[in-house]
Amino acid sequence: MTALAHAASGAGAVQQTPALRVRDLVVRYGSGRRAKSTPPAVDGVSFDIAPGETLGLVGESGSGKSTIGKAVLGLQRPTAGTVEVAGQDVTAMSLKQRSRQVADLRVVFQDPYSSLNPARTIGQTLVEPLRLMGVKGPEALQRARAGLESVGLPADAADRTPAQFSGGQRQRIAIARALVCDPKVVVLDEPVSALDLSTQAQVLNLLADLRDQRGLSFLFIAHDLGVVRFLSQRTVVLYRGQVMETGPAEAVAEQPRHPYTLALTAAAPVPRPAEQAARRAARESAGFGTAGAASPSATGCPFVPRCPLSTDVCIEQRPPLRLVDTDLTACHHAERSADLGAPLHRGR
Ligand SMILES: Nc1ncnc2c1ncn2[C@@H]1O[C@H](COP(=O)(O)OP(=O)(O)OP(=O)(O)O)[C@@H](O)[C@H]1O
Ligand code: SF4
Ligand SMILES: [Mg+2]
Repeated sequence: MTALAHAASGAGAVQQTPALRVRDLVVRYGSGRRAKSTPPAVDGVSFDIAPGETLGLVGESGSGKSTIGKAVLGLQRPTAGTVEVAGQDVTAMSLKQRSRQVADLRVVFQDPYSSLNPARTIGQTLVEPLRLMGVKGPEALQRARAGLESVGLPADAADRTPAQFSGGQRQRIAIARALVCDPKVVVLDEPVSALDLSTQAQVLNLLADLRDQRGLSFLFIAHDLGVVRFLSQRTVVLYRGQVMETGPAEAVAEQPRHPYTLALTAAAPVPRPAEQAARRAARESAGFGTAGAASPSATGCPFVPRCPLSTDVCIEQRPPLRLVDTDLTACHHAERSADLGAPLHRGR
């Protein structure tokens, strides 16, 4: 294993078959000439998640997070690259094949209102994935009730419909539905973004407990580095479909090496207005461009139009991921990013 591959899969990780392995994933939407002329939504992304590990996937809106989640789940066909679940290559499997054969992989989506069928009881919703796996009748219902209890809901919740629950309770139901088949890997696509702050904390704690009790692996998608850090051991930072930085969650959040990660850190919402204003001023003084800045060159770093450190080499050459301290970083000038960090840290 090269140093680079070692770091991508988690430095120091024991050599074992990853629960999830994604290699060189490319996803282009659409078809024909138009698809070829637009940049891919996901552009050469690789990562591993070990059994029991949580990998956080963070980036601004449109950076390709959900597209990676969909490609992993088989909801979007990759243009190139591979997805393996517990060593099994599932890249070419249809959704139908996956729902029967790949019980190891499940999902929780962001919206607790649209993700549950309003016409079905919670029991019917939880029994459905079990039925597809051949578990039927009283055994399925008993497992559904046990699943509801495991997320802190009464077993008689099975007899009610989604309209009778709050947003936080519905997200607990969505978690119970994901876990009822005893999966190994769960894709969590912004599972707490639609919830208020105190409910977010409760659901994050529940997810952490369930992961630790059952040895689950999570691909945890979020906008906010702070939320990602709470649950994840490692973080992947995504921009325009490319990995900008990846490393231990604490290092990425506390000492980012990539200018884009620094910009994300500075833009993260904080509850205190005075601190928020200080951060905004620090971000402006560091010179970061806004998300709507001009398109990057096809050959160079995608962050060029927004980056205060950019030079000619950034425009000419796409920076490869390389090890900078603890993190793999795709930046020609990562060693200089501390200069940008100073005003941001003063703004904290
Ligand atoms: N079905 C689709 N057809 C065409 N383009 C799409 C489709 N879904 C997403 N895209 C585009 O792919 C890119 C990545 O979108 P994606 O939804 O993966 O981003 P995201 O990081 O999950 O954003 P958000 O944080 O807003 O959920 C965006 O430019 C988006 O417009
Ligand atoms: S490679 Fe250049 S443009 Fe890209 S993030 Fe690093 S310094 Fe900025
Ligand atoms: Mg998304």
